[in-house]
This record gives sequence, structure tokens and C-alpha cells, in this order.
Amino acid sequence: MKYRILGRTGLRVSEIGFGAWAIGSHWGTQNVSDSIDSLNKAMDLGLNFIDTALGYGNGKSEQIIAEVLKERREEVTVATKIPPADGPWPPSPYCNVEERYPEKYIRKTVDTCRKNLDTDCIDILQLHTWTRAWNRNPKPLDVLHKLKSEGIIKYIGISTPEQDQNALVHLMKEGYLDTVQVIYNIFEQEPAAELLPVALDNNIGVIVRVAYDEGMLTGKYKSNQLFPKDDFRSKYFEGDRVYRAVKRVDKIKKELENTEFTMAQAALKFVLAHPAVSTIITGIRNKNQATQNLKTSELPELPEDIMHKLQQHAWLRGVWYSGK
Ligand SMILES: NC(=O)c1ccc[n+]([C@@H]2O[C@H](COP(=O)([O-])OP(=O)(O)OC[C@H]3O[C@@H](n4cnc5c(N)ncnc54)[C@H](OP(=O)(O)O)[C@@H]3O)[C@@H](O)[C@H]2O)c1
Repeated sequence: MKYRILGRTGLRVSEIGFGAWAIGSHWGTQNVSDSIDSLNKAMDLGLNFIDTALGYGNGKSEQIIAEVLKERREEVTVATKIPPADGPWPPSPYCNVEERYPEKYIRKTVDTCRKNLDTDCIDILQLHTWTRAWNRNPKPLDVLHKLKSEGIIKYIGISTPEQDQNALVHLMKEGYLDTVQVIYNIFEQEPAAELLPVALDNNIGVIVRVAYDEGMLTGKYKSNQLFPKDDFRSKYFEGDRVYRAVKRVDKIKKELENTEFTMAQAALKFVLAHPAVSTIITGIRNKNQATQNLKTSELPELPEDIMHKLQQHAWLRGVWYSGK
């Protein structure tokens, strides 16, 4: 396993981290013993960064992590997230920031995370979502800075809203954040425009999520793939979305034909090629995925010509002028 520095936190984190959403909720049936085994396996192989959230099973993911870390807490950095108070997700530009993240609510919710994680001090506390409309009045970040000075949290981050990967750029430049969590993958390349260079300029740790586009960029889905109703992918890949995405993945696979890389490996190596990236929190549900994802760190870098080809596969899914 290779390690990188997580920006201004100075933490030395594994290039591949553990995304702990599926072990909490929303991904259909997930056996707790598989979750525990995959966390242990990943740490045995050198993983030392875990991302979770209160919202992943209302504390379930955090509690499983706490249980596994009982004997090995010192080995790992854990980042968690608190959701905003009730309202639209992602937050609308018309939402009042002080109603969605009021101080009393932040303190109470962070305390719940501390209990779930069985810790006095949270390593990295992230706000689970944001809107760039709040950048002019980022009051919740003042509250988080107070929590930091009180020793309740060590570092402050925000996770980008899914539709706007450059939403945090202003806050990064203004020095509010230690880390950012962002969607960056072969389809979603927008962070390369601004967020990633700004992170480098300002020494902010970058935690990349959804490097596999919710599993699609592992290359394992068929165009007629169906997901159970209790799996959020039944919505994410609703209608003709699987079919369209698989067609694109097939084209990417062609680019890799004369290389040593599988689709899944290329998906991770593409992300790791950017020097601003500190760690990829791959979603992991079993020991085999832990092993496969972690060993990708040791592989050589993608050749420059392949990187260039992969850059041509960016997909701006929100824009329909050019058709589907
Ligand atoms: N708003 C936010 O802040 C936000 C949103 C999303 C995610 N996240 C964080 O980011 C993490 C990563 O994102 P994600 O888990 O949503 O998506 P992801 O990493 O793109 O995809 C993960 C899924 O791909 C499959 N997979 C993983 N490794 C594989 C391998 N080697 N071969 C084949 N399939 C493999 C697994 O699903 P199956 O086994 O079911 O196929 C796994 O659950 C989350 O766990 C969470 O911590 C945060």
C-alpha cells in the first residue's frame, strides 16, 4: 500500500480508503459479518482511512466501525459526516444555512457521532452536503472551528453536493476547510477544472468518493442489470441509465485492451494520477473487494497515452443539448 499526505492535516493516509456507506444502509442486503471481515481485511493489508456518516443506517456504519476498531483504534483515521437538519437534499439555494445547520443541532449531532464511534474526539468531521449559496455566510464552519478549539473534533471537511463538484472552491481559498470530499472519476472529471488545483494551491486534503461511479466503472454490470428496490442503485441507474452507462464503459474497456489494467484498476488509477488526490474511499462490501481495491495501489501508473484516452470519456450527465 502506498500512502499520501492528507493536505494540511499532515496525516499519512493510504491511497485506498474504506467507504463505509454500504455497510450501513441503502445498498440492499449486507451481512454484518461480511462488513466486519472486510474492515479487518482492509486494515491487515495496510488501509488506514475510513469514511462513514451518521446517515449510513442512522449510526449503524459508525457503530460497526467502532466495534472493529476497539483493538486497533490507533492505526486508523476515521472521517464521519453530519447531515443537515430536515429539508431538501441536496440543499436548495433558497435554504437558510442557519436553519439547516444551527449550532445547537450541530453540537447534538456531533455528540451522537462521538457516541456511535465510541470516541471523545472525532478525527475528521464533515458536513454531509452543502450549497454554494451558503459560501457568503458559512456560519456552520464557525461552529465547527469552535468544536475544534474545544477538542471535540480534530479537522473540518465538507462533502460536495452531488450536482456541483466545484461548490466548495471559495471556502477552500478562504481557509475554512482542512479536507474536502468530492466525486471524481472517469465520467465526472469537473473537479480537475478548479477544485483539485485549488486544493493543491491551498494544501487541502482531497478525499475522493464514487471512483467507481457506484460500481459502474468496475465494468461488471450488464446493460440489463436490475437492482433490488432497497438498493439505492435502483434509482441511480433508473430507466435507460444502466444501458447508456454500460455502452460507455464498453468503449472504455476497448481503450484498455492492450494494457495490463482491468476496468476497475484503471478507474482507481485514473483518479490517483491527479497529485491533489490523497485517498480514494472505495465502497467495500466483502474481503475480496478489499483485496482487489487495495492491491491496485501497488500497480504501476497508467501510461500517459491511456490517461489521455480516458480523459476523453468525461460524461456531463446533466446536459441534454447533445442528446443522450
Ligand atoms: N454525499 C456523500 O458524501 C457521499 C455520497 C456517496 C458516497 N460517499 C462515500 O464514498 C464512498 C464510496 O462511494 P460508493 O461506495 O457510493 O461508490 P463506489 O466506491 O463508486 O462503488 C462501490 C461499490 O462498487 C462495488 N465494488 C467495490 N469494489 C469492487 C471491486 N473490486 N470489484 C467489483 N465491484 C466492486 C461494491 O458494490 P456491489 O458489491 O454491490 O457491486 C461497492 O459497494 C461511500 O462508501 C461513502 O463512504 C459519500
